[in-house]
Amino acid sequence: MIIAPSLLAANFARLASEVARVNASGADWLHLDIMDGHFVPNISFGPVVVKALRPLSPLFFDVHLMCSKPDILLEPFAQAGASQLNLHVELGEALTPLLWSVRALGKRVGLVVNPPTSVSLVQPFLDHIDNLLIMTVNPGFGGQSFIYESLPKIQQAAAWRRDRHLAYTIAVDGGVDFKTAVECARAGADTFISGTALFSQRNLGAAVRRLRKLLEEETANQR
Ligand code: DX5
Ligand code: ZN
Repeated sequence: MIIAPSLLAANFARLASEVARVNASGADWLHLDIMDGHFVPNISFGPVVVKALRPLSPLFFDVHLMCSKPDILLEPFAQAGASQLNLHVELGEALTPLLWSVRALGKRVGLVVNPPTSVSLVQPFLDHIDNLLIMTVNPGFGGQSFIYESLPKIQQAAAWRRDRHLAYTIAVDGGVDFKTAVECARAGADTFISGTALFSQRNLGAAVRRLRKLLEEETANQR
């Protein structure tokens, strides 16, 4: 069970103290959304910011690249201290060499699928990835509502993992709150990226503990 607060929902006027809050919260990963104003209609931050934050946190840095030209960004983000680089399956033909580049840089490899995209597109890559990220909103902005049509994709990802004896994590991102996270866990997700629902809480540590407890109760019920 991995809980990954998404920094996009933090107060950007004081990123250092927001990262300190996440460090102290008991969360497992810090999710970092990289938006280029082209692949998605929004711009967030780049490798310089990730590099500045790296010494402030011992957490796993989960970098989500929502960028049209990730080829020019893999090395900068690897050097900035990313632990995992997630690439969108919507990149098409460009994807295979990019995944190998991430591996060659010594980073964990993630693959992301958007709500309108068929989950079958990720199938050829399943043997080669560490993380499969199912978007549960259309990427670009925090604070959107969870898209319930994503749940069968999570079930499919979990079935493939079981049938093929693979070990990739199954992550969900977008509109993940205390209710929808449990529904995703029921469908087979194990990694929960959450921005607004966590950062809007005054006590982030209590929120992470509450979410973990709900998720643990759900997985205990499944056994
Ligand atoms: C959306 C990003 C998400 C975002 C989630 O494009 O990929 O990581 O921060 O935010 P919430 O949890 O507010 O939907
Ligand atoms: Zn994200």
